[in-house]
Amino acid sequence: MDRADMGTKGSGGACGVCGGRTYLIERQGDRAHARICECSVECQVCGGRGHNLVEQEATFSKKVGPRKYEVLAPCACTLRIRRVARYNEVGLPGVLAHATFENYRPIDDAHNRPKTVAQHFAHHFDKKGSNKGFILSGPVGTGKTHLLAATLAHLVLEMGVQARYVEISLLYATIRRGFQEGKSGGEIIGPLSEVEVLAIDELGKGRGSQFELETMDELIARRYNANRTTLFATNYSLEPERKITRAVSGYQSTEDAKNVLRDAELLRERVGERIYSRLCEMCTFVELPKDTPDHRRARQQGEPRGHHHAPVKMRAHR
Ligand SMILES: Nc1ncnc2c1ncn2[C@@H]1O[C@H](COP(=O)(O)OP(=O)(O)OP(=O)(O)O)[C@@H](O)[C@H]1O
Ligand SMILES: [Mg+2]
Ligand SMILES: [Zn+2]
Ligand SMILES: [Zn+2]
Repeated sequence: MDRADMGTKGSGGACGVCGGRTYLIERQGDRAHARICECSVECQVCGGRGHNLVEQEATFSKKVGPRKYEVLAPCACTLRIRRVARYNEVGLPGVLAHATFENYRPIDDAHNRPKTVAQHFAHHFDKKGSNKGFILSGPVGTGKTHLLAATLAHLVLEMGVQARYVEISLLYATIRRGFQEGKSGGEIIGPLSEVEVLAIDELGKGRGSQFELETMDELIARRYNANRTTLFATNYSLEPERKITRAVSGYQSTEDAKNVLRDAELLRERVGERIYSRLCEMCTFVELPKDTPDHRRARQQGEPRGHHHAPVKMRAHR
């Protein structure tokens, strides 16, 4: 576990409800919501005062020598309350309240990289330094948003980082609504360009209108210039070569052909060179294999392919 964990642990102990994490994440409507576990609501350490007297020693004069004195320091429970409140400002979708690194299961080693990259990022995040983000690209239902949610939960609740999650079409809709209320795009983008870590989901989605491209361009350029960390997920391909197009002619139905074309669409073409070029510098690129199964469908069909229960091969080290 991280060093940053230590401050907030304590009263959780061996709690069967939160597993000692001291907080729980639950679905509340369309949002993921965190709250402090019953086991840790009443703080055993400070008795609810929120701070503790801590003994310190200092030498104020040579004549008197070292003297002990007491200062008030915030208790771990204060930190916990702050982090839980911060989590509830992230804006993660309720359907992913359950998402953790532990319950993300790659079907085999080849599908393990997204988790490895996301987990490494979360566990090694340097609050004082600069951090390279990541971009996850892959087919639908392959756990991209799951990993974004797990990453942000870890950063906020375990490390006290400030973070936000935005789904791109909701962001555009919010800005449009803001326009109607007389706000400028900058006013809405402002807070998002300053937050420590921002996750932008569904990058490349939308109509690709000038408004959308300019909004995204401004947001990403601002974060790039401020050297802020940004995470992304997209259905569009990162691969530089459009390899599949030639195979299209061999397909039977126009529906198939359309699907292949959509699969083959490149993020670079969707977001334009300016944004793509910045992404290259800001992020580690992770592309899920095209054959990664859709977990939503697997679940609906009672997991006939047994993907969930296939033994997960562990890597010795990374
Ligand atoms: N490898 C996995 N292990 C465990 N659960 C998974 C995995 N992949 C997906 N899931 C689950 O499947 C559901 C869909 O995953 P998620 O929403 O993260 O997909 P996505 O890649 O973001 O899809 P889309 O491209 O449609 O946004 C979620 O409930 C998620 O928890
Ligand atoms: Mg998603
Ligand atoms: Zn508990
Ligand atoms: Zn306390």
